[in-house]
Amino acid sequence: MERIPLLAGNWKMFTTVAEATELARAIAAGPLPDGRQVLLAPSAPALTAVGDVLSGTGIELASQNICWEEKGAFTGEISPLLLKEAGGTMAIIGHSERRQIFAEDNDLINKRLRGALGYDILPILCIGETLEEREENATMAVLEKQLRQGLDQVTITTGDQLIVAYEPVWAIGTGKTASAAQAQETHGFCRTLLADIFDKAIAQQIRILYGGSVNPANVDELMNQTDVDGALVGGAALKAESFLRIINFKTL
Ligand code: PGA
Repeated sequence: MERIPLLAGNWKMFTTVAEATELARAIAAGPLPDGRQVLLAPSAPALTAVGDVLSGTGIELASQNICWEEKGAFTGEISPLLLKEAGGTMAIIGHSERRQIFAEDNDLINKRLRGALGYDILPILCIGETLEEREENATMAVLEKQLRQGLDQVTITTGDQLIVAYEPVWAIGTGKTASAAQAQETHGFCRTLLADIFDKAIAQQIRILYGGSVNPANVDELMNQTDVDGALVGGAALKAESFLRIINFKTL
């Protein structure tokens, strides 16, 4: 099965609702090439407004996190029910900002991920090493732990039920991108691990996105790598022009 490239914009906490809807409109105006999937992840208060703009455009909507319960005493959380009500189909889980600033650990991330699957929401599991870990040659060990613990007790029957995003922490928002060779090396490693966790056929189907200072100038080379199946983009997704160029990698 072919892995359809996914170009995902993570707007973090950068936009107002008005800015988010305007940006969504500008991106939906395209050009959007065939054979690619586009995803926008606004902050939670903008989900409904952005969902309205995206309705019928073919662009997918995601939340930046997700709770495993749909209702209840969970102050500050995002309900899967509300995400779906807004038209959302996917959720970013375990972003490094959640791990580092809000102390989310692999157990909590695993709980969120299993919850999302239970609600038919496609989880995007983010993993990645810090600079210190890379310098200590601990990258692969860190990724293995994040993948194995994040996917503990997860059963999927096809590879289109899960997306993994490799985002080296030292590359996020820093302007430093992993080289295409570094990205391929870690993505290949992750796919081998996914084959061990699930099976080879499923691992071949799972899309592995790269994230960390992706921009119009480096996207083509990253997307040339065999195991890079898309990009999770922060800063460069905040302007329609640059995100549209990323969506149209190698074609525009
Ligand atoms: P960046 O963010 O593109 O601004 O580095 C990526 C991310 O955090 O997903």
